[in-house]
Amino acid sequence: MENKKIVLSGIQPTGTPTLGNYVGAVRNWALLQKEDTFCCYCVADLHAITVRQNPTELRKFRYNMAALLLAAGIDPERSIVFMQSHVPEHTQLSWVLNCNTYMGELSRMTQFKDKSAKHEDNINAGLFTYPVLMAADILLYQTDLVPVGHDQKQHLELARDIAIRFNNAFGETFKVPEGFIPGTGGRIMSLQEPEKKMSKSDPNPNGFVAIMDDPAVIRNKFKRAVTDCDGEIRYDLQNKPGVSNLLAIYSIFTGKSMDETVNDFKGSGYGALKTTVADAVVEELMPIQQRFREISADKEYVAKVLSDGAEAARRMARKTVSKAYHKTGFDK
Ligand code: TYM
Repeated sequence: MENKKIVLSGIQPTGTPTLGNYVGAVRNWALLQKEDTFCCYCVADLHAITVRQNPTELRKFRYNMAALLLAAGIDPERSIVFMQSHVPEHTQLSWVLNCNTYMGELSRMTQFKDKSAKHEDNINAGLFTYPVLMAADILLYQTDLVPVGHDQKQHLELARDIAIRFNNAFGETFKVPEGFIPGTGGRIMSLQEPEKKMSKSDPNPNGFVAIMDDPAVIRNKFKRAVTDCDGEIRYDLQNKPGVSNLLAIYSIFTGKSMDETVNDFKGSGYGALKTTVADAVVEELMPIQQRFREISADKEYVAKVLSDGAEAARRMARKTVSKAYHKTGFDK
C-alpha cells in the first residue's frame, strides 16, 4: 500500500441518491479503483443527523446506500467500504480539528447558509461544524485524492486549510489532500430548473433522476426536461443551461468528448436529444439496479463487507489519531 495513492470520499445516506451523486461522485469512485490507488469509501451517516432524521428510515437508508455503492462497482476486494459511525476515530479527530478551525471560516460555508435557510427550526451546532467532521474523514486516512462533485469544493478547501494550519502549528501530521472534481459532470443540474444543481432534497421529483428510478420514469423525466426555445443544440452553460446539462450527461455516459457529443446531435431536435440521453442513462443504470436488488437482499454479505471495512479503516485511522493526539499533548 506504501506507493499507492490514497483515495477517500463519502456520501450521506439521506433521501434517494440521484444522477448527480452518481456522475459527480460514485461513478468516479468506481473508476478510481486502479493498480496505483487504494480507495476508502464511506457512508457518511454521522453527517446525516445534522438534519433531523427518523431513526428507522436512517437505518434503512444507510444500509441501502452501502448496498448501492457495491452495486455501482465499488469492489470490497480492492477497496474499503465502511459506515462512518463504525469508526469512532472520525469523531475523535474531529474534536481536535474543531479546536483548530475558526468560526469565521465555518460561517462562510455556502452549504451552511443554504441548509440553515432551509431548516430554520433546527440550526444545530452540528450543521455548523459539519465541514470539520468532513475534514476529519479526509485527513484521518492521509488521503491524496478526494473525488467529489463541485458543491463540496469549499469544504475540501477548508480541509486543506485545517491540515496546513495544524501541520504548521504542531509539525507534519496530515497529508494535504487534492480534490478530484470532474470538469464535465461536477455539477449536474436540475432537469426542471437547470440553473440549480440536481438535488435529492428537491421537492419536485421531476427535477432529479434517482439512481433507482424505473426506466419508464427516467425516460419520462428526461422527456419533460426544461430546455429553451431557440432549438439549437450547442454547449453553452451560460445561455443554454438545460441543453448543456443534457449534453454533459450524454458525454459522460458515452465517454465521448463534448465536440463529438455536439456533433452526434447535428440536425437533431430537442426531442431526439432527450430520448437519446435517457437511453444512455437507462443502459448504464439498469445493471446497477439489478445488482442492487441482489446485493441488498444478502444482508450477511453486506454486514461482512461493512465489518471488514470498518476494521481496515480503523487500522489506518488509529495511526493518524495517535499522531494528532500526541502532537497536541495527549499521550497515553
Ligand atoms: P452528498 O451526500 O451531498 O453528495 C455525495 C456526492 O455527490 C456529489 N453531488 C453532485 N455532483 C454533481 N452534481 C450534482 N448535482 C451533485 N449532487 C451531489 C457531491 O459533491 C458529493 O461528492 N459532505 C459530503 C459527504 C462527505 C464527504 C466526506 C465527501 C462526508 N465526508 C469526505 C468527501 C470526503 C456530502 O454531503 O455529499
